[in-house]
Formats: sequence, C-alpha cells, structure tokens
Amino acid sequence: MTQAPEKMVIVSGIQPSGNLHLGNYFGAVQQFIQFHEGGHACYYFLANYHALTSLRDGQRLLNLTRSTAADYIALGLDPGRCSIYLQSDMPEVCELQWLLTTVTPMGLLERCHAFKDKAQQGIPSDHGLFAYPVLMAADILIVSANRVPVGQDQKQHIEVTRDIAQYFNNVYGDLLTIPEAFIPESVATVPGRDGRKMSKSYNNTIELFAKEEEVRQQIYSIVTDSASVAEPKDPEKSMLYAILKLFCNLEEQAYWQDRFRSGGLGYREVKQAIFDRFMEKFGPARDRRKELESQPEYVDEILKRGVDQARKVALPLVRKVREAVGIPNN
Ligand code: TRP
Repeated sequence: MTQAPEKMVIVSGIQPSGNLHLGNYFGAVQQFIQFHEGGHACYYFLANYHALTSLRDGQRLLNLTRSTAADYIALGLDPGRCSIYLQSDMPEVCELQWLLTTVTPMGLLERCHAFKDKAQQGIPSDHGLFAYPVLMAADILIVSANRVPVGQDQKQHIEVTRDIAQYFNNVYGDLLTIPEAFIPESVATVPGRDGRKMSKSYNNTIELFAKEEEVRQQIYSIVTDSASVAEPKDPEKSMLYAILKLFCNLEEQAYWQDRFRSGGLGYREVKQAIFDRFMEKFGPARDRRKELESQPEYVDEILKRGVDQARKVALPLVRKVREAVGIPNN
C-alpha cells in the first residue's frame, strides 16, 4: 500500500440484496463507519445497476434498494458525514463505463471470476455480467477514490479497476486516480452457522433485522460438536467462540477463552451470550430501522442530498474525461 494521505476519498458499493447479516456488518459496514469517523470524504451507494445482473424483478429491486438504504442508515452510516446515494441517480457512471470499455482488453474481463466460473461450468452469461467489473471501475473512478473498502471476494475487481484506469491514463493523460482496495485481514471472514463463510447463498446467516425470535433461532442453530458441558473445549476450534468474539473486547475474549478451556461451559450458555450481545449491539439499530420504515421521505431526502454531493465531484471529472476523449460537453 502506498502511504495513506491524511484525508482520503473512500467509495464503496452495496448490492441491494436485502437481509443484511453479521458477515456484512463486521466485514463491511463497520469499516464504512470507521472511515467516515476518520474524517475522510466517503461515498457509499446502492449498486442497483449492478443488481440487475442477478435480479430481474423490477418491483422487488425497487423495494430492496430502498430497504437496504434504510438498513445502512439505521446501522450508523451517518448522512451528515458521508454521501449515501443510489447508483442510478448518477447515470453518468454508465457513460463513464462506456468510455472505459473502449480501453478495456477483453482478456482482462475474461479472467474475472464471476464470468469465468460461469463460463467454465458451461452456463451462459450475459454481457451485463461480463461488463460488471467495468461498471464497478466507473463507480470508483468517477469520484476519484483512493481507497475502496470491500470483502476479499471483490479484490480482483479492484485490481481490474486499477488496470483500466492505467490503460486510460496511458492513452489520454493522468485524469484518473488509481485506487487501492482496503481489506482488513482480521475481519475478512465471519463464519456462518455451518462453519463456512457467512453468506446468503449458503443459507447460514444470522440476520441483523430479522424478528427477535428468528434471530434467536438462527443463533441457537449454530452447529456445535457433541462435547458434554463438563469437557474442556478449545475456543480456537469453536465456531461459537469465533462468533462470540466479534462482540468482545480483549478482556472479554480472555474471559471466554478461559471459560472454554476450564470445562463446565455448555454450548447453550454461549449461544445465550451471543444472543444477548447481539441484541445489546444491534438493538438501537433495530429500533431505528423500525422508525425509518415510517419515514420514507426522510430516507429519500438523504439519498437526494447524497447524490448532490457525489455529483459535485463526479461531474467535473466526467467533463474532463469527455474533453480528453473528444466527446463535446454541453
Ligand atoms: N461488486 C460489489 C459487491 O458485490 C458491489 C459494488 C459495485 C462495489 N460497485 C462497487 C463495491 C464499487 C465497491 C466499489 O459487493
């Protein structure tokens, strides 16, 4: 990583896929909040154009986009300190995407996982999926971002963004800022209820905004071995501990490690502790989420303000790009 400038431009896109879970929180939302608390210029948007590559139900996409925006606001993305907007409210990203595609080698996109995996399995894919990384590059480059907080699975896309920006700059001059991924090691993966990475597609999540009884049920269904209460247990091998740890400071971690190792700790007690800590941590966000439900105009207002702020930096860049490539500005 290059030396981090004191004040950076941060951008990240959120797929409006609904049902946020612990993995999303500790893997992404927490970093988003840290960046805006650090005083950086932060742009967080709902990637609804990207969502079209996997969702073909207009009403559902519309609902999900709005509800996911409310989820993130409830969780603490502060509209006073970052710009929250809909990707589609800044249609210039599509224009920039096109301009970028004209310098993007086919081979670069053929190597991208989402497309390659499908192609290898013989599943036909559409041009949207193929071009997905170029739209993502446009999202990032349009605000001249320095850092992009993402999960491990998006690392390749950031590499592609860097390559595309470099190709463009080589041809047209240094207009585009080369971004870097920000992927903190310690929180990169949150285990799901079955021990695999927590992911909606594995159906192993603990959902942040599910009804209380559902949350309890999800936590109580975390898979454990058949060790008896009396047996000493190795916390480092326990999925329950891996999840509980997310909520604990160092002192609390030491306490629980000790309890695991000395025996006499039953899994029910740990599950109850996870449930209690979950409610303590997310209770306020859950209440706030309910309030936002009845204030759709407030959410709309935030999104409008957000896109106005983002366009203030995006539009001058797009003008310069048009000028460089020879498309008239008017
Ligand atoms: N592809 C990202 C994901 O699935 C979402 C995304 C779209 C994104 N555009 C972006 C992330 C720009 C970071 C920056 O999670």
